[in-house]
Amino acid sequence: MDALAARGNRSRAYPLAGNAIEFDRVTLARGGRVVLDGVSAAIRAGEFIGVFGPNGSGKSTLLRAILGLLPPLSGAIRVFGDPPARGSRSAGYLPQQRAALVDLPICGWDFVASAWRGDRWGLPLVSRRGREEVARAIARVEAQTLVQRPLSQLSGGELQRLLLAQALLGEPRLLLLDEPLISLDPHFQQAVISLVRDIQLAGEITVLFTAHDPNPLLGVMDRVLYLGNRRAAIGMVDDVITDQVLSRLYAMPIEVLRINDRIVVVAGHGPVEAEAHRHDV
Ligand SMILES: Nc1ncnc2c1ncn2[C@@H]1O[C@H](COP(=O)(O)OP(=O)(O)O)[C@@H](O)[C@H]1O
Ligand SMILES: [Mg+2]
Repeated sequence: MDALAARGNRSRAYPLAGNAIEFDRVTLARGGRVVLDGVSAAIRAGEFIGVFGPNGSGKSTLLRAILGLLPPLSGAIRVFGDPPARGSRSAGYLPQQRAALVDLPICGWDFVASAWRGDRWGLPLVSRRGREEVARAIARVEAQTLVQRPLSQLSGGELQRLLLAQALLGEPRLLLLDEPLISLDPHFQQAVISLVRDIQLAGEITVLFTAHDPNPLLGVMDRVLYLGNRRAAIGMVDDVITDQVLSRLYAMPIEVLRINDRIVVVAGHGPVEAEAHRHDV
């Protein structure tokens, strides 16, 4: 029973071995309000997980908790068997809030390098190892021709690739990508998705990828994690994106339509994507 592993789960539902991330009855709050309440779920090492849910359902909050930036109110999170460690090299993170970046008066290379945290001997940014690592990450996202240009001259899609390069520094085992498709046209969306998929498969990397719309990710996701109403449902696309599971999760009547291999989630007066997922960047 994968779907609707949520509130009220008294026993640990998943084995420890082979899991990249475990949530054991985790409650997370922001600004004094509970965002996720007693969520239990396990993500296996090497899985590509699409994370969905209406605006404000806690997708970004969840990623921040996995990074150790937000301690749970109760319950336990384990990342590769350990409590989340702030600044851990095992996780690469592409944050959602990035509108202010374009004003930085630096070139692309320096921007990627600014996320390199030095190695454990505390060598400075310009260490040879740091430069090699930055070059490797830039090559991985095929941004070699972009990085001499000022950040302010890059398009949204180009900037997104540099952000992805930042997330790849240090060869993380886990990639936490918060809305990487936002502000991209469909062509670049596909480019980012296949790039992440290639990286995931090549390195057996675990990916959590938040998005508004499951459709662009249907061919690459192993499983989905849906958030809503302070709860979570995890499982295969066909088991979770259903009238029954989403209606229970959102505590309102939801209809899931399949139109030409596309999924349209309809709630009340219209598609959930159009209504509840309107976004602020
Ligand atoms: N820094 C913050 N202070 C207080 N509340 C916050 C903060 N960040 C997010 N929240 C609230 O937490 C809830 C979850 O937000 P978030 O994780 O950003 O949702 P999502 O990423 O799914 O859109 C929302 O109600 C949001 O208003
Ligand atoms: Mg968010």
